[in-house]
Amino acid sequence: MRILLIIGGGIAAYKASELVRLIRREGGSVTCVLTEAGAHFVTPLTLAALSENAVHTTLWDLKNEVEMGHIQLSREADLVVVCPATADLMARMAAGIANDLATTLLLATDKPVLAAPAMNVRMWQHAATQANLATLRARGITVMDPDEGVMACGEFGPGRLPEPEAILAAIRAQLAPLPRPLTGRHVLITAGPTHEPIDPVRYIANRSSGRQGFALAAAAAQAGARVTLVAGPVSLPTPAGVDRIDVETAREMAAAVEAALPCDVAIMVAAVADWRAAEAAGQKRKKDGSGQIAPLQLVENPDILAGLGASAARPRLLIGFAAETEQVIPHAKAKLARKGADWIIANDVSGDVMGGTANTVHIVSASGVESLPRMDKADVAHAIMTKVADAFR
Ligand code: C5P
Repeated sequence: MRILLIIGGGIAAYKASELVRLIRREGGSVTCVLTEAGAHFVTPLTLAALSENAVHTTLWDLKNEVEMGHIQLSREADLVVVCPATADLMARMAAGIANDLATTLLLATDKPVLAAPAMNVRMWQHAATQANLATLRARGITVMDPDEGVMACGEFGPGRLPEPEAILAAIRAQLAPLPRPLTGRHVLITAGPTHEPIDPVRYIANRSSGRQGFALAAAAAQAGARVTLVAGPVSLPTPAGVDRIDVETAREMAAAVEAALPCDVAIMVAAVADWRAAEAAGQKRKKDGSGQIAPLQLVENPDILAGLGASAARPRLLIGFAAETEQVIPHAKAKLARKGADWIIANDVSGDVMGGTANTVHIVSASGVESLPRMDKADVAHAIMTKVADAFR
C-alpha cells in the first residue's frame, strides 16, 4: 500500500506519527504532507524518520514544482489519507479551496480519499462542519466517525481522532477491491417531492426530503451500477457517479423516467404529488375580500410506478415505496398488487421520517415481509442494494 498522508493542524496530529509507524510495519510506504498548522504539532523530522521518506510542507518547493510535484505525489499513491482532518481542512476540502500544498493535492487527486476527523466537540457538531461532512461524503470521500470521549481540551463528546489501529483497518478496507455486484446494470431511481403549480407563485408539495432516494442512488453507484436519479425539487448534493435529472412536476418526472428507459431495476422513491391543479392560473390568484375563494379544481397525476408495472419496457426488478401513517403492511400489500411491483418498501412516516435521517422499513414481496431494524438512511440503502444484487445473482 502506498499512502499519501496529509496531516492537519490539531493536537491529534501527534497520533499521525503512530499511524506512519503502523503502515510501515505492514510493509506499506508513506509520504507525508504537513500543513503549516500541522507543523506546529509534529515536526517534519519526526515524520521523515518514521516514514523514511521526504516530508512535504510547501507548494512553493521550486524543484518539485518544476516537475509538477503535487501531481506526482498523488500519482504515486494508492490512497490519500487525511489525519487528522481538522474542521478547517474539511471546510477547505468541501469548498474546493486550494491555498496550500495539502488542499491543492486534495483538489487535484483522482485517488480515493479517507479522512479521519479530530476536533473539539462543538466544532464537530457545528452545522457548518456537519454540512461539510455531508458534502464530502456525497462526493465519495470516506469520512470516518470520530471517537467519543474526553478530549485534550477537557470536554467530552464526539471529536476524538479514531485510534491509529482503527484508521489502519479503514485504510485496509479502502484498498481491498470493493464488490461491485451491479456492474453492467442500469438502476433508475426517483426521489424527493414534486411541486405542482397552482399559479406562478404557489404550488402543492409534500414533506419529502429526498434523502432516502439519494442514499439509494449513492449505494447503487457504489455497487457498480449505472445510475439515473430523477430528482424532484430538493437541494441535496448529487452522489458521486450518479446521473441526475432535475424535475419539478409529476408529469415532468414521468417523462424523465420514460426517457431514461430501459433499465434493469427501477426504484420509485419519490413522493409524487397525487393531484395537480386542473389548470394552473397564468396570473397570481387574488383574494377579493368576500371571504370566498373559487374552488381549486384538482386532477390526478399519472402514476409513474404503476405505469412502469404495466409497460412493455417493465424493468426486471420494479420497486416502489409506500409512505404510510397507519396500517403500514396491509396498505403495502395492496399497493404491491395494484401497482404491479415486485417489492414495496413500506415505511411509517407518522414520525419525522420524511425529513429525518433514520428510517425503519419493511420489504413486502410475494414471498412475505422482511422488516429491517431502524437505521440511518444510508445503511437502509446499502441493505436494500445488497438485496437487489442478490436478486440478480
Ligand atoms: O400510491 P402511493 O403514492 O402511496 O404509492 C407510492 C409509490 O408509488 C411510490 O413508489 C411512489 O414513488 C410511486 N408513485 C408514482 N407516481 C405517482 C404516485 C406514486 O410513481 N403518481
